[in-house]
Amino acid sequence: MTMRLDKLLTHVGVASRSGVRQVLKAGRVRVDQTIVKDAAFQVDENALVYLDGQKLDTRLSRHLMLYKPPGVLTAKEDARQQTVMELLPPVYTALGCMPVGRLDKDTTGLLLLTTDGELAHRLISPERHVEKTYVATVDGHLEESDVQAFAAGIPLKDFICLPAKLEILTPVTARVTVQEGKFHQIKRMFAAVGKPVTQLHRAWFGPLALEPSLHPGEYRELTENEIIALYTAAGLKE
Ligand code: URA
Repeated sequence: MTMRLDKLLTHVGVASRSGVRQVLKAGRVRVDQTIVKDAAFQVDENALVYLDGQKLDTRLSRHLMLYKPPGVLTAKEDARQQTVMELLPPVYTALGCMPVGRLDKDTTGLLLLTTDGELAHRLISPERHVEKTYVATVDGHLEESDVQAFAAGIPLKDFICLPAKLEILTPVTARVTVQEGKFHQIKRMFAAVGKPVTQLHRAWFGPLALEPSLHPGEYRELTENEIIALYTAAGLKE
């Protein structure tokens, strides 16, 4: 695959399109062994591109995990409120990275982000049954009957939830694994058994656990093995 050099440099965050033209004109960009000034030059995806002698990271596909803190919106942009994209360096927005599904504003934990729209779509598609695991704190006293209700499939107003695994950790906290991710689903499931959620944290998404060394608001790129596991879970090849 090839791409115009000015587009590539803009995507990877070197500068705006016009800024990039100036950078090119000044002879600051080298592609492999050659200084290239032509904005329309077609760069191969395997080419090595340098700015002022420093090799650029020109990967166009990126996959990240973010430890979403509370109080931040899962959205690409918002006029008033801080979004998860604002927790990342601007290059990820320039590359078209998007959150995989949503966590509520007050929910914390593992949020995946990717530049691959098809991957994101499949990971959240109800048909693929990619499991997500949350730790919920509730107002109430969790009991064995709740485990059974979750396993049977909680009926909500508009649909019946697929069977979910509820593991009681303390009388007020539980680990819950669901195969789908409808709007406010976890909160609605606990509300349906009369124990509203007071705190919600996502610990796993499909094959991936939240990296224990990340603090709220921090992110890291996924490893090659994690990316393969994610594509496999989505029924796709990378
Ligand atoms: N279910 C919810 O209710 N909220 C979330 O943020 C995620 C799953």
